[in-house]
Amino acid sequence: MELSDKIDRARVPRHIAVIMDGNGRWAQRQGEMRVVGHSHGVSAVRETLMAASEVGVRYLTLYAFSTENWNRPQAEVNALMDLLVRTLMSELDSLNENGVRLNAIGDLDSLPGDCRETLQQAIDRTSMNDRITLTLALSYSARWEMVRMVRRLAELVRTGDIDPADIEETTLEEHLCTIGLPDPELLVRTSGEQRISNFLLWQIAYAELYFTDVLWPDFKKDDLFAAIIAYQNRERRFGKISEQVSPQ
Ligand code: IPE
Ligand code: IPE
Ligand code: MG
Repeated sequence: MELSDKIDRARVPRHIAVIMDGNGRWAQRQGEMRVVGHSHGVSAVRETLMAASEVGVRYLTLYAFSTENWNRPQAEVNALMDLLVRTLMSELDSLNENGVRLNAIGDLDSLPGDCRETLQQAIDRTSMNDRITLTLALSYSARWEMVRMVRRLAELVRTGDIDPADIEETTLEEHLCTIGLPDPELLVRTSGEQRISNFLLWQIAYAELYFTDVLWPDFKKDDLFAAIIAYQNRERRFGKISEQVSPQ
């Protein structure tokens, strides 16, 4: 029996978010430069995207580069940006063949020009696909996103377009980068670190968190399936008591 057969197809998370971590350590363990780990991380992205799509996940959001990652050595930042451009170009046909709609969140204006252009082209050329939405978080951090949201709301209040008394949770959500995406039900982080590192703070309010020691370049389809199975074995109570959510 394959691991994917153990997944209850009726209860697959609609949206899975992943903090892809451990590329550098993976490379260092093989005596390679950190960037070699990032290159191998691309196969894990492909593998995860196909696995998610296979079991019916509709939204996959990958933390690819955080606001804080700009503070890494310049050579590593450059290598990551180059890798992004090359990967977007080489994977475009495959994204289209597999019905993948590409999306991006983050401070995209801070990306180098060629990255921004290639990204926008890939987003435009996959915009008609509807099997799965792949969102890349690039130059993203949740606090940056929230500051941007507050500035936008404050401006709308200043111009009289919004009455502060009318601000609801949904009003905030309309000004986050993730507008149009459902909240992730499952957040996966690889490499053994157990922290959020400024990812999707608002959106993961009730996500199930799943941590695995697998380093990102080693992450395979079965690792995603194992995360989904673990998710399905949890009881999501949303503040209620067990008898209310799983009546015996
Ligand atoms: C994740 O791997 C990729 C990015 C953050 C861009 P790391 O590069 O953080 O790898 P480690 O955590 O140093 O092993
Ligand atoms: C988080 O990983 C960011 C991404 C996966 C893009 P980091 O490796 O940058 O996070 P910290 O520094 O360990 O928290
Ligand atoms: Mg890391």
